[in-house]
Amino acid sequence: MRNVVLIGFMGTGKTTVGRRLARILRWPFMDTDAEIERLVGKPVRRIFSEDGEIRFRSEEALLCRKLATPQGLVIATGGGIVLNPENVRHLRMGGVLIALTADPEVIYSRIRRKKTRPLLHGDVRSRIAGLLRERTGVYDVAELTVDTGELSLAETVRLILNYLQERNYLDGLPSGP
Ligand code: S3P
Repeated sequence: MRNVVLIGFMGTGKTTVGRRLARILRWPFMDTDAEIERLVGKPVRRIFSEDGEIRFRSEEALLCRKLATPQGLVIATGGGIVLNPENVRHLRMGGVLIALTADPEVIYSRIRRKKTRPLLHGDVRSRIAGLLRERTGVYDVAELTVDTGELSLAETVRLILNYLQERNYLDGLPSGP
């Protein structure tokens, strides 16, 4: 079974949507940030501050290699994982890529109080705007893009499940959320 891989900027809902999808499909769920934290033995924030972003990115690349094999996982990825084209290649080998998006204001309201994201220091609103600008187009590698700012969690999940079913990515679908 191919993996279902959620990509997208920070705060677009990858982890929340991924967990719900996994529960409905009864597939295992993986969050790449959490998996890297487990492998390295410290939070992403400390990997960045103590070992550098480059260490974090190389852990991401190693993990993507492993995820090139289809394992029937629902995977929520870190927002920067698709910056490396090799990662995109590997994730695509193992699964179907689905992008989540949201307006900058929606992203800001979701993440402004969380202190776990090392790239969002200083003026968070303008950091978000700057990073979104730098990353223009990088999430377009997905087959399907869903704006989670416009939809409820249940609607987002239903849209993704319908898409997966239409494309025969799933064998059968449990009756609903
Ligand atoms: C990052 C996003 C984070 C995490 C790290 C870097 C990025 O994940 O991987 O802080 O470069 O966009 P989330 O998208 O889950 O917040």
